[in-house]
Amino acid sequence: MEREMSLYRSLAEWMPLLTPASNYRLEASIYRRLFLAHDPQTRTVLELGSGGGNNAYHLKRRFAMTLVDHSPDMLALSQQQNPECEHILGDMRTVRLDRRFDAVFIHDAIAYMTTHEDLERALTTAYVHCKPGGQLLVQPDFFRETFRPGTRHGGTDGPDRAMRYLMWIRDTEPGGCTYTTEFAFLLSHVDGHVTVERDTHTMGLFSEQQWLDLLARVGFVGEIVGETLGEEEYSHLNILLARKCHC
Ligand SMILES: C[S@@+](CC[C@H](N)C(=O)[O-])C[C@H]1O[C@@H](n2cnc3c(N)ncnc32)[C@H](O)[C@@H]1O
Repeated sequence: MEREMSLYRSLAEWMPLLTPASNYRLEASIYRRLFLAHDPQTRTVLELGSGGGNNAYHLKRRFAMTLVDHSPDMLALSQQQNPECEHILGDMRTVRLDRRFDAVFIHDAIAYMTTHEDLERALTTAYVHCKPGGQLLVQPDFFRETFRPGTRHGGTDGPDRAMRYLMWIRDTEPGGCTYTTEFAFLLSHVDGHVTVERDTHTMGLFSEQQWLDLLARVGFVGEIVGETLGEEEYSHLNILLARKCHC
């Protein structure tokens, strides 16, 4: 039985204060450029693990986005932000939509694939939904080679509520294929009282070679592309671009 993460369930309504869509503008512009560099005709994009739809908020201006997530609470949030996008409840390891897209996108949600088997299942889902000649773009938070334990903090003030968080990235399985992110949240409610929540997320960690081997096994030809969002810590983007053959 998999443990439910409260961030994407009971705390989902706080997500816009944790990471507003405006934070994703630059990042989304990089993904848009990469999709169009491969095929300027790219129009339909399937996103697996789309969460509150922050990247989709920017990408939908150029692409017809179909958004899949296994949390009904996160889908509801994304639906408010992206009413013009198609939303589908599903698990990226098993969902089958019986149609193909010009491109498939898996952003940071891929980190929830914590075993080789689950990662291969998610990549297989991407493969079966990608048209011949289409592209998969995956952005894992880390490769084993780029992993760095550390802390981040943030949060924002809304009109009537506010949130602050501390995120602690820990190497809890040295040499293994997972790491842990511990979250602490301070929630300031409408009447001003503050509560504290915490959440533990187990995330997958695979080497660059393991990624490339798995992509090849599923049927893609993959490459690693590095992009950066700026000078700050954790602003390097680990991107995998993979192409499905035309056959
Ligand atoms: C950090 S959020 C994604 C945010 C997204 N990148 C954006 O641009 O807003 C991670 C999402 O992955 C989803 N997720 C985790 N495991 C999943 C799975 N097996 N299938 C589908 N969605 C999954 C969670 O429900 C959560 O909404």
